[in-house]
Amino acid sequence: MRLTVDESIKRIPFYPKAALYGSEEGWTRLASNENPHPPSSKVVNSILESVFSITRYPESELELKALLAAKYGLEPGNIVIGNGSNELIETAFKGMRHPMRTRVLVHEPSFAFYTIAAQIYGYEARQIRFPDLTLDLDIILEQIDESVRIVFLNNPNNPTGTIFEDATFKSFLDRLPPEVLVVVDEAYAEFATSKKFPKSMTYVRDYPVLVLRTFSKAYGLAGLRIGYGVADATIASFIERTKQPFSVNMLALIAAKEALSDDKYVAKVLESNIQGRDFFYGLFAELGLAFIPTEANFVLVRVGPDAEGLTKKLFEKKILVRWMGAYELPEYIRVTVGTMEENRLFARSLRSLLK
Ligand SMILES: Cc1ncc(COP(=O)(O)O)c(C=O)c1O
Repeated sequence: MRLTVDESIKRIPFYPKAALYGSEEGWTRLASNENPHPPSSKVVNSILESVFSITRYPESELELKALLAAKYGLEPGNIVIGNGSNELIETAFKGMRHPMRTRVLVHEPSFAFYTIAAQIYGYEARQIRFPDLTLDLDIILEQIDESVRIVFLNNPNNPTGTIFEDATFKSFLDRLPPEVLVVVDEAYAEFATSKKFPKSMTYVRDYPVLVLRTFSKAYGLAGLRIGYGVADATIASFIERTKQPFSVNMLALIAAKEALSDDKYVAKVLESNIQGRDFFYGLFAELGLAFIPTEANFVLVRVGPDAEGLTKKLFEKKILVRWMGAYELPEYIRVTVGTMEENRLFARSLRSLLK
């Protein structure tokens, strides 16, 4: 059977989903910036206790919204819950549809899904490349014209792990022209240790900012698919209207509420991340590899012209890392900080392959 589609649909790349074999026993998964630890036992128990309710539609999202609002000193109307923060990236496109403003700005290298989602919703993504891997918000500002509707900023940035600071962000927001929404994707914010990391939640009342956070990383709920957005109540309502009803499943909502109250779990995850990150710094220094100090749970490291071959050799040893060819960084790989056992396994393999 033949069916024709619009050319723009054919140009949409497939999102690079982690391969299934990674979930089998014996693989070391350092390619998708996941939390390497088991989930919080409080979370697991809350899911087990609720599992017989799955014959019903999910409960209202209000309880979780109220918890998040209290955490940030805001109102439930400022919060939107999504099926992963990825859903909210999409919903931003839907809720912000505008007859004249059909462009979005994306800095590169950055998270691949912004451009994919732009294409899906018929926007044109203007990619602004920063070859020295340092994002400059002044350059982004210069590129905003009357065709631009959304600017995507990723902080800490995937795949570099770098951040822009609070003062820089505030000055950017002060100079933003009207009718432009800034989506600041803070999927890795919990891992950031810099005191200068932006206090983005304090800007949502006064500026057109949608802050995205997720339960997939520090909270360890990637498989449940739940994230949230924080914005001025009017913006949040536009996003809410264009979202699928019940897009967030019942067990995810229950788990997220429990995860938010388990500070000890998150503290352990963050501590382990610092230990693993420092271990990687030592390893890369020992091997003479240039790397970028990270504010997230992964490190971008330059392993040389055969980075793709090295990734394949690690794969043969059942270690998954991400080759950065698709980000136009063919000499780099991105390695997620794993458990110390996984980090040591990776270190042993890397040493043996590079020596
Ligand atoms: C920068 C960034 N934003 C968003 C996401 C998606 O997160 P979620 O699992 O909440 O959809 C990821 C996932 O890796 C990411 O790296």
